[in-house]
Amino acid sequence: MSVAHGIRTLGVLGSGQMGLGIAYVAALRAKVPVLLYDRSPEQVEKGLKLMDKLLAKDVSKGKIQDLEAKEARDRITIVGQDQGLKGMRDADMVVEAVSENLGLKQKIFTELSAECRPDAILASNTSSISITKIASATIPQGQTAASEAGQKSASRVVGLHFFNPVPVMKLVEIIAALQTSEATLNRAQNFAIACGKEVTTSKDVPGFVSNALLMPFINEAIMWLEKGVATKEDIDKTLRLGMNHPMGPLQLADFIGLDTCLAIQQTLYQGTGDSKYRPSVLLERMVDAQWYGRKNGKGFYEYKE
Ligand code: 3HC
Repeated sequence: MSVAHGIRTLGVLGSGQMGLGIAYVAALRAKVPVLLYDRSPEQVEKGLKLMDKLLAKDVSKGKIQDLEAKEARDRITIVGQDQGLKGMRDADMVVEAVSENLGLKQKIFTELSAECRPDAILASNTSSISITKIASATIPQGQTAASEAGQKSASRVVGLHFFNPVPVMKLVEIIAALQTSEATLNRAQNFAIACGKEVTTSKDVPGFVSNALLMPFINEAIMWLEKGVATKEDIDKTLRLGMNHPMGPLQLADFIGLDTCLAIQQTLYQGTGDSKYRPSVLLERMVDAQWYGRKNGKGFYEYKE
């Protein structure tokens, strides 16, 4: 049976391209007040500028009225550095969208489970990390996973995987950890739908359905470039014009972020031991060189902004 999402206030952790996008669709489409926190004040400022730009573009294109944009903007509250995760206490759901690092995510979920209301949903926008592992970090000290408190705490954790750019991409992939309750799953799905998205569900396998299929494709394209089979332009053009992909795989890798692609591929490779997921040497070297793609101006291609 479907249940209402019941999210009156959403918390978002991280105001990078994903976190900001999630805040944007929640405030504009689901019309939910958003508490936005990022440990970098510069990143918050950058995120808010992007939010204003996106809203102004929607107004100029006649997609929304001035008033709707203003109301959406007013729904965003920045959580101060002095408050940190304590600022999430009023949230009915928190979506974590920080970088792809298991240790960091577990630390955040331990803290969130202590700070947030016991019935608040704790969601991760991770691209590939095990939701079950993240959920295990919420078990209160002195409790075991089998105890009532342990099970209750972990049962409210779910994967809520948005796609970049969040305002445009139609899908949210929902991932159930072994511990996720049916009620959590239903509320998360209904919230994603209220944000204007369609949903699919995936079991908690490395990379879920989406990245387990996408990343070998991107990696193979990088290996073909490495082998000199074709130029980067021709590899991308083949997929764009031959298969009607909106972006070629190398362009897409730059768009996602080469550091993010590498982190996902490492999770896939470590999690399965399958050599088809082994990251290409060229990708590793590009990340060593800090060529992260579109976000910092250089990847397979160069970007002015
Ligand atoms: N943020 C918000 N909106 C954006 C945007 C961004 N970064 N980039 C483009 N848009 C909007 C534009 O404003 C425009 O909106 P409009 O319809 O209101 O005018 C619309 O998208 C189309 O943009 P453009 O006309 O400028 O350009 P394109 O037609 O080339 O579309 C694109 C751009 C939507 C990014 C398209 O190239 C595309 O769909 N690319 C593939 C993206 C993709 O595969 N994303 C998934 C990545 S995998 C992932 O996120 C999972 C993670 O775990 C790795």
